[in-house]
Amino acid sequence: MSLILGIESSCDETACAVVADGYKVLSSAIASQIAKHSVHGGVVPELAAREHLTALRRVLSEALAEADKTLADIDAIAVTQGPGLMPALSVGLNFAKGLAMNSGKKLIGVNHFVGHIYSAFLGEQGRGFLECKTNYPLLALVVSGGHTALMLIDRDGCMRRLGSTIDDAAGEALDKGAKLLGLGYPGGPVIQKTAEKGDKLKYDFPRPLTGGAGKPVSPENLFNFSFSGIKTALLYHVERNRNMLDDEQFVADTAASYQWAVVDVLVRKTMLAAEKFNVRSIVCAGGVACNSLLRDELAKRTPEVIGLQLAERKNCTDNAAMIGGLGWHFFRKNISSELSIDAFARLPELSRVPFLG
Ligand code: KG4
Ligand code: ZN
Repeated sequence: MSLILGIESSCDETACAVVADGYKVLSSAIASQIAKHSVHGGVVPELAAREHLTALRRVLSEALAEADKTLADIDAIAVTQGPGLMPALSVGLNFAKGLAMNSGKKLIGVNHFVGHIYSAFLGEQGRGFLECKTNYPLLALVVSGGHTALMLIDRDGCMRRLGSTIDDAAGEALDKGAKLLGLGYPGGPVIQKTAEKGDKLKYDFPRPLTGGAGKPVSPENLFNFSFSGIKTALLYHVERNRNMLDDEQFVADTAASYQWAVVDVLVRKTMLAAEKFNVRSIVCAGGVACNSLLRDELAKRTPEVIGLQLAERKNCTDNAAMIGGLGWHFFRKNISSELSIDAFARLPELSRVPFLG
């Protein structure tokens, strides 16, 4: 059995996890900084870095204790290298380098975006899904605060980006929407909660790049997303109805209709891509994959012949189990990183996933 320690610090969660043989999560400790950032209405990179620095040793101890292991039991250290906020990433990466240097263990820098995709395959059931040959080609919808993308993945690990957002990510749209409605941060969970008492059909928000409102979608945007138009429509809606913002029902109906517009676009594009590329399964991961409406709609609208694998809710938002699990796939191929690796902020072009083939 090989044990990988995963370390994650790309945004506002400080996380460490111990994962056995890539799939079995022995522990997943997370210290959330939400309370620290919410007073600012969003994540402040320098504040995130400082908080990571304070929390990392404690979170590492928690992860080791929960797994009933010591650092000596660990075979390699996998750490998020990017994409993410540079000051935040650097803290986790330097911490991991220090651990690797002192212990003589291998360092494995992994991609956070690929980590999100991999999070859907953690656990025995996830492993079964990943290893089932008939699940390919597979379509991955990655929806988080930083990313919204549709990725086509073949059995041999070849990956192709079919589309991504041309402006805001889905989670970002929900976060900004919640701010406009005065609901606080992070927006996804609070919009979901507020929407529970609302009518999602009450207000009609646009569905950008879906060919609605007589605007045909250009071929290059068929699988791209755009959420800034929905957000602007919400801004106008709020401005037109300023006097209604104290009315609980108005806010609930608005949150429900807004959430529905975001989810509907995500599911429509996913189904369109699934059909066009004749995929055998759909995977959904990333923070927004926690959303109940999105999960329900994907389940409802995925044709019966297509498999559906939703990341477990606890693995959707940023965590280190996905980093440790993904790291194992490099470890088993004897691939590791130099101690001189740098963090990177932006998502590079990706043509393969390391966990297949
Ligand atoms: O994956 P994640 O933790 O961080 C990034 O890599 O970005 O995703 C965070 C995003 C935030 O935008 C948050 O509002 C959203 O995920 N989110 C949700 C829910 N829980 C978190 N969005 C919708 N519904 C939720 N229940
Ligand atoms: Zn993330």
